[in-house]
Amino acid sequence: MSNLPNRQILLIDDMPAIHEDFRKILAPPSKDTSSLDAMEAALFDDAVEAAIAPFQLESAYQGQEGVALLQAALDAGRPYAVAFVDMRMPPGWDGVQTIEHLWKADPRLQVVVCTAYSDASWGEVLARLDVRDRLLILKKPFDAIEVLQLAATLTTKWQMAFDAAVQLRSLEEAVQERTRELSSANAALQVEIMERKHLEVQLVQSEKLASIGQLAAGVAHEINNPIGYIFSNFGTLEGYLEQLFQMLQAYELAESQEPVVAARLRDLKKALELDYLKEDIPVLMRESKQGIVRVRQIVQDLKDFSRVDSAHEWEWADLHKGIDSTLNVVASEIKYRAELVKEYGSIPQVECLASQINQVVMNLVVNAAHAMGEERGRITIRTGHQDQFVWIEVSDTGTGIPPDTLKHIFEPFFTTKPVGKGTGLGLSLSYGIVQKHGGRIEVASTVGTGTTFRIVLPMQHVVPIGEPLASV
Ligand SMILES: Nc1ncnc2c1ncn2[C@@H]1O[C@H](COP(=O)(O)OP(=O)(O)OP(=O)(O)O)[C@@H](O)[C@H]1O
Ligand SMILES: [Mg+2]
Repeated sequence: MSNLPNRQILLIDDMPAIHEDFRKILAPPSKDTSSLDAMEAALFDDAVEAAIAPFQLESAYQGQEGVALLQAALDAGRPYAVAFVDMRMPPGWDGVQTIEHLWKADPRLQVVVCTAYSDASWGEVLARLDVRDRLLILKKPFDAIEVLQLAATLTTKWQMAFDAAVQLRSLEEAVQERTRELSSANAALQVEIMERKHLEVQLVQSEKLASIGQLAAGVAHEINNPIGYIFSNFGTLEGYLEQLFQMLQAYELAESQEPVVAARLRDLKKALELDYLKEDIPVLMRESKQGIVRVRQIVQDLKDFSRVDSAHEWEWADLHKGIDSTLNVVASEIKYRAELVKEYGSIPQVECLASQINQVVMNLVVNAAHAMGEERGRITIRTGHQDQFVWIEVSDTGTGIPPDTLKHIFEPFFTTKPVGKGTGLGLSLSYGIVQKHGGRIEVASTVGTGTTFRIVLPMQHVVPIGEPLASV
């Protein structure tokens, strides 16, 4: 549609003479335009001279024909602004029927009913049409100025309504655009909030790791020194005992030669239960030595677990070694709740942040131990590899996780454990760590049967674009 005001008028009347009258008034031949202006000027005021643009008048002689014209005009994108409709048009539709059809096709149309009489009372007509704000009544015989004024006013009204609708639409579009902008800003904000949460969790993670590392380093240092000298003293002590036993043997030989001394020695030997001591001392020594070796191993495991020496760098690591150290560190947590079964496959070395992977394994194993009921259960650690990935499975015969809970287990601070028992960070930290490795973490659980967590890690670390090569 052009931007010019809509001056399209449709006249539906069965009397050709009426069409001629309307044409003279609304659409005189162009040479007569000035006379129309003159007429207007004479009727109103000189000031409004030529203010009205010419109308485009189209004619239909029956209601159906009028509706067809309206439809064609609509399809061509030049809708009529006003229709003048006669009330009686035999043999076709009457004016009311015609108007009903016209409005069905285009509810914006302004309508003037033209009639000298009515088949129905006006009250009935208005009740049938049920729309009064677009309907005027023009009684025949009419004056030219009445027709002209109706045409001018109603086309202007149509145009104003049209402009208002266009403005409303553009306003709605602007509102929608603004709403879109706001919701995308909101989405960006949500992403930022999530990222911050994630960073917070990572911070907690690295603080946790750092404190475990410091603790392990401290413990290792404290224990290592005494263990060192106990161990070396033990060696010396073994030698001394050996010598003492030799001495004893010499005394025993002397027993047979000196009867008085022999009698005293025999009494002493009996009182001291020397034969028993000779048997028991080596046993005690052996056990103590085993104990010291075990303590040494624990210190080594603590160091391996926290990797205090490697300062969280990407390195090629033997995951089995890491898992074993981790299991030793958490042994006391598991011992009374479950037996541990290891089903290790053969896996290659993996480029990873070894201490963090240990942390993940520890979280999974401790969770598995906590999931045990009254009876002692079983925790199975399996490993394997496929294509370029290595996997570790921690499977338990615990309570299992109900589907409603399962949805939330990776959320930070989600826990079903009593206050003070669980922070709800274990799995969310583990999730973050596995993600940082470009891997994934899967879980399958059946209530009453148990749960299996599986972490899948790429064998080789791929540095994401924009990440520094050595990451913490
Ligand atoms: N193996 C499992 N069997 C049953 N439920 C589990 C298992 N692992 C995790 N869950 C459920 O997932 C929840 C979240 O685990 P997550 O390790 O994140 O936190 P937590 O163990 O409660 O606390 P935290 O690890 O910080 O001490 C647990 O509270 C528990 O309900
Ligand atoms: Mg946990």
